[in-house]
Amino acid sequence: MSFHRNVAALRGRVPLAVAAAVALLIVFLPGADGAPAQPPQAVPKSVVRAADEALPTVTVVATGGTMAGLSDTPTSFQRYRAGTLLMEDMLAEVPNLDEVANVNSLQFGNKGSGGYTIAELYDLSLAVDNALRTSDGVVVTTGTDTMEEIGFFLDLTVRSPKPVVITGAMRPWTVIGSDAQANLFNAIVTAASGKTGWFGTVLMLNDEIHAVRDVTKTSSYRMDTFQTPEFGLLGYVDDLKVRIMRMPPRALRVFETRGSVVTTANALRNWRTPFDLTTIEKADLPRVEIFYNAQEAGGEAIDAWAAAGVEGIVTAGTGAGGISGAAGQARTRAVQVGVMFASTTRTGSGSVYGGSGAVFPADSLNAPHARLLLMMALAFNDGVDDVRADFVEWAGLQADITSALPSLRTS
Ligand code: SIN
Repeated sequence: MSFHRNVAALRGRVPLAVAAAVALLIVFLPGADGAPAQPPQAVPKSVVRAADEALPTVTVVATGGTMAGLSDTPTSFQRYRAGTLLMEDMLAEVPNLDEVANVNSLQFGNKGSGGYTIAELYDLSLAVDNALRTSDGVVVTTGTDTMEEIGFFLDLTVRSPKPVVITGAMRPWTVIGSDAQANLFNAIVTAASGKTGWFGTVLMLNDEIHAVRDVTKTSSYRMDTFQTPEFGLLGYVDDLKVRIMRMPPRALRVFETRGSVVTTANALRNWRTPFDLTTIEKADLPRVEIFYNAQEAGGEAIDAWAAAGVEGIVTAGTGAGGISGAAGQARTRAVQVGVMFASTTRTGSGSVYGGSGAVFPADSLNAPHARLLLMMALAFNDGVDDVRADFVEWAGLQADITSALPSLRTS
């Protein structure tokens, strides 16, 4: 599309942009006492449309981010207010959705991804499972900054095996050449296809489908920012064609029947994580922090976190997971007061093995992913041995498919 046609297309969006700007102006006006007004509170709002019974139903659970961003001008790619536009208005601007799915929306919140608390992610996970009771798939829209964390939180906790697709955008909705509309459309196409059922949460951006466990944001601005180091993408979306070229190991656990036939019940038993949020309070999710190792790194941060009551620390070590002498001594002191550790590598790919006692190897998980798994393992277990067992199983088993394929082994 030419520049002029893009600008003409944007003109059609002006009422939406103006309405959102006016709404923001009202909300952010200073209070009567001159104190800055508080940002708008998230008001979950569901919009259910009339259904065409021949089509699958997809619910979009919207949380904001750049995708819902309102730019200063049609070309201000980096000057915009993330988490501003409402999903229902955005969906109304996406053409041809009625050929793909019955699309409902739930406005869970509207802010940048980094603004969400762990307690809010707990609520988000329950909202996704609730939507999956009546929908064939869910699309979650978030900012891209912590999308891999929000996605992995869902991957670890959602109970339904139906498709969950997380997406967002690197350019706000209202600039020329935005990826927001295409990403939203293709995420809905992916969820509606049903092809990622039993995959856990997948990430769809830039036409590519990734296992959220393995994917990471690699660039601050580029639209192909999400990459899966070493393993590569699961598939892609070309027009309405969803092509899946490999399965995440977790999906193969469905077939790990130990000799019995595959039924939904035993598939679910293998596939579900032990991290059922309905059995704990959100306050049970403990604080876990990340220590980033470097040349002669000090151990003071680890001492301070232990003193502050942090229950778990992930180390992003050099090479195969090494940390400095001072950090290692601080880790020993922290273990003595009950803190548990997971070792990862800061290299960007590769596995970490070994460790003993309260120091667990995170296999091929990166540090932000390992942090969430350690949080879950700590919340659902008591004692080093049980935390370690859960952590190691879900860090490692998902990374190795061979245990799911006994019938294909040669003797
Ligand atoms: C955010 O993560 O909310 C802002 C950045 C983005 O969405 O790309």
